Amino acid sequence: MFTYVFGVSSERESVHFLVSEFVSCRPGEASSMTLQDALDRPTELLMKDYEYINVLHEVATGVHYLHAQHILHNDIKTDNVLVYRTADPRAKARAKLIDLGNACWESRPACFDVDSSRSSHIAPEVAVGGPVSSYSDIYSFGYLAGNVDDHPGQVVAERPCVKAIADGCVKQARPTDRMTLGAIIRLLADAEAKPPA
Ligand SMILES: Nc1ncnc2c1ncn2[C@@H]1O[C@H](COP(=O)(O)OP(=O)(O)OP(=O)(O)O)[C@@H](O)[C@H]1O
Ligand SMILES: [Mg+2]
Repeated sequence: MFTYVFGVSSERESVHFLVSEFVSCRPGEASSMTLQDALDRPTELLMKDYEYINVLHEVATGVHYLHAQHILHNDIKTDNVLVYRTADPRAKARAKLIDLGNACWESRPACFDVDSSRSSHIAPEVAVGGPVSSYSDIYSFGYLAGNVDDHPGQVVAERPCVKAIADGCVKQARPTDRMTLGAIIRLLADAEAKPPA
């Protein structure tokens, strides 16, 4: 779900670094891969449709966990998800949600200066200067699911729940009408229970 954090290092008093595990895309490799990399270069991790479902499931569970701690991520996107394989050749590809650089407490919601050319994953109410919320994280998760669904070469068309989730999170006029994380996680768990296409 998340990278293991060893601690905080500070070279200068005002600058702090989180020191975390390095998540290599395969055991023993020196490089990592984001979900965007996996979509752009599908021949590298050779992820099957049901593995993308597993990745979405892990990210949704991570967001659900953060929200249960009253933390908003505020930058959920394909570049901020690491995907990797473990040593078990039969295991599905896994995912970790990274980059809590924009995170905030739900009780102290931030507003962001959004660069619209680079931020289509940001909820419209946040893009116009409004405060973030759990609903804006859900919009971003839906946008990410839409990226997985739309990406040329992917076979998640076999898994219609991915499009249903994307539509259920980004198409609503009111943020509060977006799908809940509970419903998203249930849909993904049901899709995972189906045999591979
Ligand atoms: N724990 C990790 N293990 C392996 N690679 C990582 C890890 N954390 C981050 N990376 C790599 O570094 C990139 C940038 O990390 P991160 O998203 O945390 O920072 P950022 O502030 O968004 O930086 P940037 O603006 O360069 O994207 C990730 O997209 C990923 O490729
Ligand atoms: Mg990032």
